[in-house]
Amino acid sequence: MTENALTVHQIARPHGFPTAADHFRLVESPVPAPAPGTVLVENLYWSVDPYHREMMDGDFALDAPLEGRTLGRVLASRAPGFSEGEIVFHRHGWRTHSVVPAAELRTVPRFEGVPLSAHLSVLGGTGLTAYVGLTRIARLREGDDVFVSAAAGGVGTATGRFARLMGAGRIVGSAGSAAKVAYAVENAGYDAGFDYRAGPVAASLAEVAPDGIDLFVDNVGGEQLAAAIGALREHGRVVRIGTIGQYNTPDAPVPLFDHADIVEKSLRMEGFLVRNYRDVQEELYEFAVPHLRSGRLGLDETVVNGFGSIVEAFLGMLRGENVGKIIVRGADV
Ligand SMILES: NC(=O)c1ccc[n+]([C@@H]2O[C@H](COP(=O)([O-])OP(=O)(O)OC[C@H]3O[C@@H](n4cnc5c(N)ncnc54)[C@H](OP(=O)(O)O)[C@@H]3O)[C@@H](O)[C@H]2O)c1
Repeated sequence: MTENALTVHQIARPHGFPTAADHFRLVESPVPAPAPGTVLVENLYWSVDPYHREMMDGDFALDAPLEGRTLGRVLASRAPGFSEGEIVFHRHGWRTHSVVPAAELRTVPRFEGVPLSAHLSVLGGTGLTAYVGLTRIARLREGDDVFVSAAAGGVGTATGRFARLMGAGRIVGSAGSAAKVAYAVENAGYDAGFDYRAGPVAASLAEVAPDGIDLFVDNVGGEQLAAAIGALREHGRVVRIGTIGQYNTPDAPVPLFDHADIVEKSLRMEGFLVRNYRDVQEELYEFAVPHLRSGRLGLDETVVNGFGSIVEAFLGMLRGENVGKIIVRGADV
């Protein structure tokens, strides 16, 4: 256990791409003591996510600890139901030690043979987003031809792997480099893909999906959404998961698509927030854990070592330096 606690604060609102020096500060303080009804957790794994960038624009209070999905070990408990040494999940992240009210803590189920970090990747909010997108929003049918943007990231790799296990047809994806496309094809269930930076997206999509698509799972928005709407077949669906293409470029014009396509091809477009689907968590375990144990489902994780690297890990993820889910691991884990 470290002698002092470290906490990341946001110190200014970014306009455009944030930087470590201008927008964050690492604050040192004594390890806090738990009050009655709370638990002191030594954090082991942290999730940094694109939604944090959205929250930096207004939702995160300045000069205060940031929130984030975190796995940790109970150091001291003053709440019934939690005991020392237990592994827990909570959202009081971006700090080495958290005092968490019992109601905001969840004991993490341990699945033999499945690494703990999976609770922040394929079994956590990232996997749940992919699972809900395919089962509840897209209502994936066997044989559906699928296109996924940000295919090599956390949600994108989980979507490719799940869609493959669920019987999708051809699965194609886009990512920010040829190496990331190759990763998605070699590891995450994709049949083909393209680098969205290498040329006009509509032409690249037509090359990898010449007969069109039934479903677009969209993590990015913008030009990729416009191209996908053009490529969708009759009764096609768009699942809007995220819009990372515009989080750091608030002044860029939003590309247009042909609105008539929605009517003439009887398309459906629907977005969702995973926080409204927490009741699907058990179903995700039932689906994914047997596949993880059998080896049919693999983990896609970029693990960054040391809490001191958390801001750089977050900024690196925004720059596309991750494949799969980016996770920060404590030095002592
Ligand atoms: N609806 C929900 O409840 C929910 C839940 C979780 C996540 N999300 C959304 O899902 C998306 C993916 O999240 P994730 O956690 O899986 O992150 P991720 O895909 O693991 O990481 C983000 C990736 O976005 C790509 N990217 C960054 N800037 C881009 C740009 N300007 N244009 C296109 N791609 C860009 C980068 O990959 P490249 O190298 O390929 O550019 C980067 O690796 C995000 O939009 C996020 O907000 C939504």
